[in-house]
Amino acid sequence: MTSAVPAEPRSAHVHTPIPGPRSQALRARHGQHQDARTVHVYQDSRASAGNYLVDVDGNALLDVYGHIAAVPLGYNHPALIGAWREGRFDWAMGHRPALGVAPPAEWVDVVQALAAVAPAGLPHLLTVTTGAEAVENAIKAAFLRKMALRRGGRPWTADDLSQVMQNRQPGVNGLKIISFEGGFHGRTLGALSLTRSKAIHKLDFPAFDWPVVPFPASRFPLDVYAAENAAAEARALQQVEDLLVAWGPQVAGLIVEPIQGEGGDRHASPAFFRALRALLSQHQAAFLVDEVQTGVGTTGRFWAHEHWDLPEPPDAVTFSKKMLIGGCFLRPTLVPVEPYRLFNTWLGDPLRGAQAQVVLEVVAREGLVAQAGRVGDALVGGLQALQERYPALLSQARGLGTFAAIDVVDGPARDRLVDACKQRGLECGGSGDRSIRFRPALIFAERHVQETLDLLDRAAGSLS
Ligand SMILES: Cc1ncc(COP(=O)(O)O)c(C=O)c1O
Repeated sequence: MTSAVPAEPRSAHVHTPIPGPRSQALRARHGQHQDARTVHVYQDSRASAGNYLVDVDGNALLDVYGHIAAVPLGYNHPALIGAWREGRFDWAMGHRPALGVAPPAEWVDVVQALAAVAPAGLPHLLTVTTGAEAVENAIKAAFLRKMALRRGGRPWTADDLSQVMQNRQPGVNGLKIISFEGGFHGRTLGALSLTRSKAIHKLDFPAFDWPVVPFPASRFPLDVYAAENAAAEARALQQVEDLLVAWGPQVAGLIVEPIQGEGGDRHASPAFFRALRALLSQHQAAFLVDEVQTGVGTTGRFWAHEHWDLPEPPDAVTFSKKMLIGGCFLRPTLVPVEPYRLFNTWLGDPLRGAQAQVVLEVVAREGLVAQAGRVGDALVGGLQALQERYPALLSQARGLGTFAAIDVVDGPARDRLVDACKQRGLECGGSGDRSIRFRPALIFAERHVQETLDLLDRAAGSLS
């Protein structure tokens, strides 16, 4: 049974335009020194509770955006507040340690707690702070593994060590990672070469010359489009295979999101991912699964890739967002032989790790993964009913667990609908060119589904 967050509002209530006057005044001040144009509203973080973000104007917004899919237990969950009050985080408060140098003893408990949710077959954990860093390290691990295979146990040479200082590494600079059209893997310079969701993310930055393949985005409902979807997947697999054959040992890996979470909530079938896994094994290229957005229960399984029933595990699985700390799990074959090859000063953040430990306890104790599956079915069912009510506006309702979306007829209409939702008390956001995404916390329950659908219904009605 899910524990209620005691102060959770009974429903959304809005009494100013969103953003309200206080948010606007704060934005003007904030914007003097930092880019504040992306801010939706300023939050009253003490007053926010459960699934409701309370803003500085006193509006309570039902939050299905979740700080870009990054709120695991809603606002001010009693387990987190209680753990803090009981002193469970004290060890992480007085200073920030370099976790690879002199970690507090308690860090070992955090690592054990995180390792307890490791995907099957990936026991090795690397912690960092963000999703993009998680991706950077997963691709570095893939390169290290590829070069270890190519050297066949021979040590690197003095020439290798001198060439590398000039950024010249014969055989290495040509290594590649394949990614998919519409994918998003972060904005650091390595990860950005894999990100293909919006041109503006990439514009004006130098990029690695790495190949891209079309993502066979399923059309919904799946039973109606079964043949068309299967044909798109077969074409994409053929292109991946062609690249693996053409580039041979230069391909160190391929990265994919279980559901493209920024690029328009695009799905593919478990069979597609199983076929990818097999192809990559055949060509000794790493299968990197980016679960930064899909991980931690939201799809109704702890890791979204568990839906695929893979005969062989992925080689790396990245996480961040709802895990509060970033990182990746690696198969033993991807663990570097030498220390310091995947390393930095902080290696994450002990406080976020300690919070994640509490989050994982609650997720297990309260059965929140199963809840996300059950509640998600109600959400997607409700979205399907809404698209029947507004066929000229809404289509393609889809989701796995509460990781859900619906398409709006075009981009401008989507933006108007998102705004109309906000004005009625639903904090939501877009995905891709014309989808609205739903990324609620894991404590999102049936009553919140009903309220979400009511608010969306009223917002859609105001536009039609
Ligand atoms: C799938 C995926 N990978 C990587 C990232 C990058 O994470 P961060 O913004 O923490 O760097 C994101 C962020 O949205 C993401 O959705």
